[in-house]
Amino acid sequence: MSLLLVAKNRDMSSLGEAIRATDPNIDVDIWPGVRNRERIQFAVSWRHPDGIFESYPNLKAISSLGAGVDHLFADQTIPEKIRFSRVVIPSLAEQMADYVLTAVLNMFRDTGTYIDQQRAGQWKKHPPLRKDEVTIGVMGLGELGRESASRLAMNGFMVNGWSRSKKELNGIRTFSGDEIDQFLQSSNILVCLLPLTEETEGILDLELFKKLRRPAYLVNVARGKHLTEEDLIYALDTDLITHAVLDVFEQEPLPDSHPFWGRKKITITPHTASITDPREAAELIVENYKRVLSGIDLLYEVDRNRGY
Ligand code: NAP
Ligand code: GLV
Repeated sequence: MSLLLVAKNRDMSSLGEAIRATDPNIDVDIWPGVRNRERIQFAVSWRHPDGIFESYPNLKAISSLGAGVDHLFADQTIPEKIRFSRVVIPSLAEQMADYVLTAVLNMFRDTGTYIDQQRAGQWKKHPPLRKDEVTIGVMGLGELGRESASRLAMNGFMVNGWSRSKKELNGIRTFSGDEIDQFLQSSNILVCLLPLTEETEGILDLELFKKLRRPAYLVNVARGKHLTEEDLIYALDTDLITHAVLDVFEQEPLPDSHPFWGRKKITITPHTASITDPREAAELIVENYKRVLSGIDLLYEVDRNRGY
């Protein structure tokens, strides 16, 4: 039996080496150099070309190389019986919490304005936001949202959190499901850490922006399709939103002609908030590979009915 690694735009060789170092007995094939398709029972994908899994007759499960699994659900050709799992490792949550804390601190301390002022040789003070007046609202209290929300709370910020099911988290005011309006109306800086599903696609739209407490800010670190891009432009132009920090986009890489590039009120990073470390991921992948071969439950298995 062998394990398949597939990615359209990512070099999988370091992951292959890390898997072989973790267990030298595992045969690893890196797409497109597959030796025998019939031997593949488990695959690890990062944005594979749609349709490729149809030619693996003994495939039983596919793991996303990241925490997000939307690219697996997007490929409608993958049969229902194939199980999905994902890579959730401590460094993913740690990096995300670092990114979110940095974005929030930059908003509080107006870092972008001071960088511009320095370039213009301008000495001008702006009052920082106050921690007792501005609340951060984290949408999604899963593996990454919980860590990010807790890190903010540990740093003295007032934090709200919203998830599908109710949560109890130290130092965080939590809301669930249909309490979304209360959550939004008491949040200034909205951090999106939801999975991309039919229910959450396009959730960051004008109607939602209008409900936020002012001044309002946005941090989208989940998926580009959560955001209705034209609504953000309108919200920034009409001062409904003061500033947005975006790490993910509907189309990645963000096209050269995209209107977001030239905007001072938008900070762009190239989907870099949290990146899977191949050495750390290898252990979990090897464990799940063995579980597939023995027919037992996968770690971090995705609920295919729920969509995340
Ligand atoms: P996760 O563990 O699956 O957690 C998802 C959270 O969202 C859960 O709290 C869930 O509620 C909540 N949720 C799902 N659907 C909801 C709905 N309709 N209404 C309200 N709450 C809902 O996800 P994760 O691993 O933390 O990942 C979060 C996001 O980060 C994903 O979009 C992923 O793709 C993205 N990501 C981005 C990067 C990057 O570099 N930018 C890196 C990794 C991941 P329950 O707790 O009640 O189930
Ligand atoms: C990155 O976006 C991931 O899903 O891990």
